[in-house]
Amino acid sequence: MDPTRDALKGVAAEVARSITSRAVLGLGSGSTVARLLEELAPLIIGKSVRGVATSTQIELVASRCGIELVPFRGSVDLVVDGADQVDRRLNLVKGGGGALLREKVVMGSAKSIAVVAGENKFVKRLCDNGVRVPVEVLPMARESAKLKLSMLGGVAEERLLPKGYPYFTENGNVILDTLFEPIESPKDLEVRVRSTPGVAEVGIFTFKPLTVYRLEGEGRFEALTGEE
Ligand code: A5P
Repeated sequence: MDPTRDALKGVAAEVARSITSRAVLGLGSGSTVARLLEELAPLIIGKSVRGVATSTQIELVASRCGIELVPFRGSVDLVVDGADQVDRRLNLVKGGGGALLREKVVMGSAKSIAVVAGENKFVKRLCDNGVRVPVEVLPMARESAKLKLSMLGGVAEERLLPKGYPYFTENGNVILDTLFEPIESPKDLEVRVRSTPGVAEVGIFTFKPLTVYRLEGEGRFEALTGEE
């Protein structure tokens, strides 16, 4: 039995109340948002809600849940997503599943943002506990980007599949999972990493305002709001 299932049901009920008729939802990727969608889908039947998928993973989940998928047309009403890490100002590390580029495009277009994460993902500063920041890079730039990232204090390791083959994102890029010292200024680092030639996107997310739902045990959750 999943100990956060009841908390997810509570979050789904709260999120469902905020979804208006004919809303377009941005669907982030990962296991948490997949479980959220399973709880959310029955609660929005009849509202003609449509979804924009950020990966094939969540596209398959949404289809199974009966959520109609539409192409991205430049903006979504609400994005629902997960995170790998959340700091005390509600900045995020994302991209553990490799969907960071599309997640950032869709989240950046959203009128409102709801992120769901288990309490084990909350830290003081991003990269605490050795969590790495995924950086999506054009394959030809993998070595030059590694060098530039090292100048920013990062130790980059190319993501590989279990047998050692390179991992490619759905955009045909590679991922450099990069360890930084615990991050004091996420926005600054986000901008600096993104300005590296060949970097398509960095998994530091600093969008505000947003609501982060922190899943706790025994069906409890907390809604945390972050402003600019
Ligand atoms: C996908 O690339 C990620 O950004 C996910 O949102 C993140 O890795 C959280 O995934 P889980 O919910 O599976 O932990």
